[in-house]
Amino acid sequence: MSDGDQSEASGWVEFDWTRERYEDLIRRVVPEYDEQESLMAEAVRAALPSAGRGPFRILELGSGTGTLSRFLLKVFPEAELTALDVSPAMVAECQEVLACFGARVRVVEAGLATADLGEGYQAVVSRLAIHHLPHAEKRALFDRVLTALAPGGVFVDSDMIAGENEAEAAAILDEWRAYMVSRGDDPAEWEEWLVGDDDFPGSAQGRLTWLREAGFADVQIIWKRANFAIIRALKPRGSSGGEDAGG
Ligand SMILES: C[S@@+](CC[C@H](N)C(=O)[O-])C[C@H]1O[C@@H](n2cnc3c(N)ncnc32)[C@H](O)[C@@H]1O
Repeated sequence: MSDGDQSEASGWVEFDWTRERYEDLIRRVVPEYDEQESLMAEAVRAALPSAGRGPFRILELGSGTGTLSRFLLKVFPEAELTALDVSPAMVAECQEVLACFGARVRVVEAGLATADLGEGYQAVVSRLAIHHLPHAEKRALFDRVLTALAPGGVFVDSDMIAGENEAEAAAILDEWRAYMVSRGDDPAEWEEWLVGDDDFPGSAQGRLTWLREAGFADVQIIWKRANFAIIRALKPRGSSGGEDAGG
């Protein structure tokens, strides 16, 4: 796996927040941030019934401070994991958070649009990262994720999404505001953090289409709340790309 184009890092190299500040913000604005980790682990286990019975390999794209990777490494003690992120600050935080897992973990500083993702992974996961890529790069990334997966492998992508049209965009924003109110937060105080200049969420249906075009099968939204969704997609067995993911 090689480093990506450093220009990808523009918005994130300056990301000098502490882990605590980042995680406090993200937990406030993203519905069920922590619960998503269990849902994503369940999706991996459901796709790979052999997970838990022998070693397998996970790749996390845009790993940030490493909370999802940490959860998966705990839930799947037999897994080895590669965490990739473009931000040196995030990579440093992630290395610290995952240090206790020793040789089971590799943290790589690289950009999603250009990194060589490697191959032979049984699971590729990502949370709140792929929407930072412009649409053409997202679509191209899905080809590369398919290549990185072993046949039968699973891609679980949790991310910010946009409405298909103005009416849906307004409806999902209302849903997000209601969620914030239900937690006792004032949405007006947090809305500026929801969609920034480097966020290109795109619609969930568009993402499903791109995944199918890339060659994924059984592409489904497995969870959705306001402007956030988790999509699960499988690499068909019998595709090229190494040993079968098993299960
Ligand atoms: C909102 S944070 C999400 C972090 C983590 N996945 C989580 O769930 O908390 C977005 C992450 O994506 C990373 N990122 C943004 N653009 C990227 C790119 N082009 N290549 C790799 N990582 C990128 C950022 O550095 C940051 O760590």
